[in-house]
Amino acid sequence: MEWDPALECGVELVDNEHKELFSLVNNLLTDAKEGKAVDSSAAALDFLEKYVATHFEHEEILMRECAYPNADEHMRLHYQFIKTLSELKKKYNESNNSLAVALEINHAAMSWLINHIKVIDMRFTQYYKDNTK
Ligand code: FEO
Repeated sequence: MEWDPALECGVELVDNEHKELFSLVNNLLTDAKEGKAVDSSAAALDFLEKYVATHFEHEEILMRECAYPNADEHMRLHYQFIKTLSELKKKYNESNNSLAVALEINHAAMSWLINHIKVIDMRFTQYYKDNTK
């Protein structure tokens, strides 16, 4: 899967971090096609936990910098995704690394990429660009 320019927001730090997530999703899809979804899930969850902690903090700093009026709602979605990841991790461990949960992890990462980055982050970064020099 190629990086979709429609995911590019024009704020370098944010784009670079989004590309890291894109790369993870790409690897997960490749692994799933090769029947290795379960093998890559634990590492994907570890990556996602660290990734969201750093990336969300960076976006939240930028939101404060431009006094983004929808910051609370945006941050609520961040916290919700952190909670989803934590639930998936618990489920994955309790299920004894099941394929169904591995595919749920892939789906959650892919949905986040499409729904959050393409819509919610795009709205915020447009505001950021319009209100900072
Ligand atoms: Fe790029 Fe709002 O997460």
